[in-house]
Amino acid sequence: MYRRVVRPVLYRLGRGDAEVAHEQTLNGMRLLGRIPGAAAAGSRLFGVPARRGHSASARTVFGIRFPSPVGLAAGMDKNGIALRAWPAIGFGFVEVGTVTAHPQPGNEKPRLFRLVEHEAVINRMGFNNLGSEALAARLAAYGDLGYPLGISIGKSKVTPLEEAIEDYVTSLRRLYRYGDYFAVNVSSPNTPGLRSLQDAGHLRELLTALHAEAASLTVAGLAPKPILVKIAPDLTTSAIDELLQVCTGTGVAGIIATNTTIDRAGVSGHPLAGETGGLSGRPLAEMSAKVVAHIHAETGGALPVIGVGGIVEPSDAARLFDAGASLVQVYTGLIYRGPGLIRQINRRLP
Ligand SMILES: Cc1cc2nc3c(=O)[nH]c(=O)nc-3n(C[C@H](O)[C@H](O)[C@H](O)COP(=O)(O)O)c2cc1C
Repeated sequence: MYRRVVRPVLYRLGRGDAEVAHEQTLNGMRLLGRIPGAAAAGSRLFGVPARRGHSASARTVFGIRFPSPVGLAAGMDKNGIALRAWPAIGFGFVEVGTVTAHPQPGNEKPRLFRLVEHEAVINRMGFNNLGSEALAARLAAYGDLGYPLGISIGKSKVTPLEEAIEDYVTSLRRLYRYGDYFAVNVSSPNTPGLRSLQDAGHLRELLTALHAEAASLTVAGLAPKPILVKIAPDLTTSAIDELLQVCTGTGVAGIIATNTTIDRAGVSGHPLAGETGGLSGRPLAEMSAKVVAHIHAETGGALPVIGVGGIVEPSDAARLFDAGASLVQVYTGLIYRGPGLIRQINRRLP
């Protein structure tokens, strides 16, 4: 139904412009969230049937209770405009952002491309977002959402790389009271130099500063919050191992694996394969699963992993769980398979 009827209409709405279709979808979700009771009714329909008052799929990871282990990945609802609606299609948690300390428009359009034959997307959005101050105000207005909220933070384009730490710390400070966990995004390919923050030296400095800020906010009376690191699928295994050492050494609570890839092997020959940006969707599935499996093996399962990349059907989610993921997230699969995908994954959870 979604693929035959809804998707063609959505794609046409945007007159072929993938970003317009994305905005229409997000707006539709925002409106759905405004209908009283819609989200609760939806999560009963699309979530996992409750048993003895407890959802069969609920689980606790890094001290947080997740009603379902299937979440919305960062980038879809960057500014948190549709947060009341996501549970209605079965999501058990949402990651907003990536937000930056300064509001910014992102890269020039077009910056989002659909490679339909591959169920893939290339994006070079460049952290278009309203800024962490605006997000804090919006989250304050929502009050309790009733599900765990992750907040992804990144570096503003105007901030030089040498001042990146202050940029991240500012956003963490503004948003600390509103997030259940924080994702440090050092893996987007669309902000020049950002991925160099994955290098051991830079990362150690950044994570030490973020944990110091978190500690002082905790002393000031806020609850401690887990800090996670989101990594690229393009790192070598030795780079991942170094990164893991830094993460465990600085008290990181988990890894989000992975962001989009700059590799094009999975879509070679496609007319849009040469577009600059990060590739997501089906061609990423195997890469992400490999990274998740590597982290799980390397840490002996001690560091929880959120698996993300290329989930377009329930078996893709199963592969990430099998590789050792404690939770999973979806983005591109939602574009190609529609909201029913989340229900299907929930129904077939391990
Ligand atoms: C249009 C678009 C924008 C994205 N923006 C962000 C972002 O702001 N922050 C981030 O951490 N990941 C971002 N991502 C990456 C996703 O969160 C996810 O890691 C990646 O797309 C792989 O998952 P998927 O194959 O299910 O899409 C974005 C992805 C897409 C397609």
